[in-house]
Amino acid sequence: MASEQRATELVLRRPDDWHLHLRDGRMLERVLPATARQFARAIVMPNLRPPITTVEAAIAYRERIKSALPAEMNFTPLMTAYLTDSISPHELEHGYQEGVFTAAKLYPANATTNSAAGVSDLSQITAVLERMQAIDMPLLIHGEVTDSDVDVFDREAVFIERHLIPLRRRFPELRVVLEHITTSEAVEYVGDAADPRLAATITPHHLHINRNAMFIGGLRSDFYCLPVVKREQHRQALRKAATSGMSCFFLGTDSAPHPRSGKETSCGCAGIYNAPVALESYATVFEQEGALEKFEAFASLNGPRFYGLAVNSEVITLERRIQQVPRQLGGNNVDPSDELVPFHAGEELGWALKTED
Ligand code: DOR
Ligand code: ZN
Repeated sequence: MASEQRATELVLRRPDDWHLHLRDGRMLERVLPATARQFARAIVMPNLRPPITTVEAAIAYRERIKSALPAEMNFTPLMTAYLTDSISPHELEHGYQEGVFTAAKLYPANATTNSAAGVSDLSQITAVLERMQAIDMPLLIHGEVTDSDVDVFDREAVFIERHLIPLRRRFPELRVVLEHITTSEAVEYVGDAADPRLAATITPHHLHINRNAMFIGGLRSDFYCLPVVKREQHRQALRKAATSGMSCFFLGTDSAPHPRSGKETSCGCAGIYNAPVALESYATVFEQEGALEKFEAFASLNGPRFYGLAVNSEVITLERRIQQVPRQLGGNNVDPSDELVPFHAGEELGWALKTED
């Protein structure tokens, strides 16, 4: 349905965000509307403090998300379980069969924000993976090794070799999403597999910036995320994959808000807050690549197909209009240390979401 290039409008099925951090409490209230205005559903990451490791906690979190949603908005959170060394296969199966958990997330312990309780070694969760394969529950992977002797820029490629390839040999029927891929190695591994049980999400920031961005004019904490952005050749491989139309690649923003005080400090947090202009950011890439006609597949069709869900029936419209992205997002009662710096801060984007009013 995506209309042709140079069109002034782009109409597509309402998209979903297949990888999102919504946080909790006041932050949840601040960031949820930005996602809900664009996306019908989102896979909500479980790396809260404490993490979401039980069906009960996921139900309670889902309720908090629904309560934080402005009344006029329509949005369905899809919950995930946070895998630990001790999570029980029964808890996962129960949550999946009850329609509470859509998937389970594997964080290698200490790979990223709030992952200390993650999995210390894949051998710890053999029974969990067996059960997930048996019940066809998707496994979402933060694919980085944490070994301190592995260069931070190589951690994804090494994870694929050391862990993902053996894991998929052991569990060939398991549905796996390699989340927020950042390298040509990941693109090749997922693309070449040509297996409907293997997919990858791609973020807007990994399509727009390479590792130089973190160092232009000084240390740029707003461009620091994990997996960290890589060399230009990897960005080019990701752009080709996202715009290829291949069904194994789909949209997942990894929008991960941290207040300014968490980013601009001696040991800043990883995470890029891209939710306010996620769709416009992706559309810009597709246009630059001359592939606007492939945008709907990436944003709205490939994800539901992988997850076995219906595509959304509504449509949304992006219009060709210059949009100035704010330098920071605060609000009347927000202390500067609490501001959020959005992705594309201070830039102009050539597309804007059309709203009914
Ligand atoms: O940059 C990131 N931020 N990567 C992650 O894996 C986690 C996320 C967060 O929760 O802040
Ligand atoms: Zn994430």
